[in-house]
Amino acid sequence: MAFVLPDLPYSKDAFGDILSSETFDYHHGKHHNAYVTQANDQLAGAGLEGASLADVIRKAAAAGNAKLFNASAQIWNHSFYWQCLSPEAKQPRGKLKEMIERDFGSQAELVAALKAECAGHFASGWGWLVLDGDTLKVTSLHDADTPVAHEGMVPLLTIDVWEHAYYIDYRNARPGYLDALLEKAIDWDFVALNLDGKGIDRANQG
Ligand SMILES: [Fe+2]
Repeated sequence: MAFVLPDLPYSKDAFGDILSSETFDYHHGKHHNAYVTQANDQLAGAGLEGASLADVIRKAAAAGNAKLFNASAQIWNHSFYWQCLSPEAKQPRGKLKEMIERDFGSQAELVAALKAECAGHFASGWGWLVLDGDTLKVTSLHDADTPVAHEGMVPLLTIDVWEHAYYIDYRNARPGYLDALLEKAIDWDFVALNLDGKGIDRANQG
């Protein structure tokens, strides 16, 4: 079965000035959609028709098929990213809040660590909050690389730091995009949900 472009979990104009509907038109409607088309075009040739998206990512990585890996990983990364965003400002609570305070000291220090990692990532990639064993960890992966392809890396939250994620609203100012998103537009309830270790399933398909 061919992969599909998942619907956004909110309307395109829900974020006001933080992320414009034009950004969603391009980022979801054109960039994310292009990865879906590119992956579907390659599935038959790779003998992976009918495989799940996560399986395609792992098998393309194992086979050294960079073109299919990039397209399929970008489908998954974006599908996860949209779910990490919320038009309502939220804050971590419960077990997640306790873990953040244990591993980073405070929510402000976690946000500072995420900003530093995302702003410092050279060129295109993704910032991540992951579970490493029982510990929260901030890291980043380059280009299309994804926790799906890394055994033991449990994804909780991602921030797209490709220029296409912020150029319409922030031009070249990646830090401005990071400030707005991390302070006002993260769905910390979704992040907390992923503490169950099933985050990969939440952006999987097929
Ligand atoms: Fe993107």
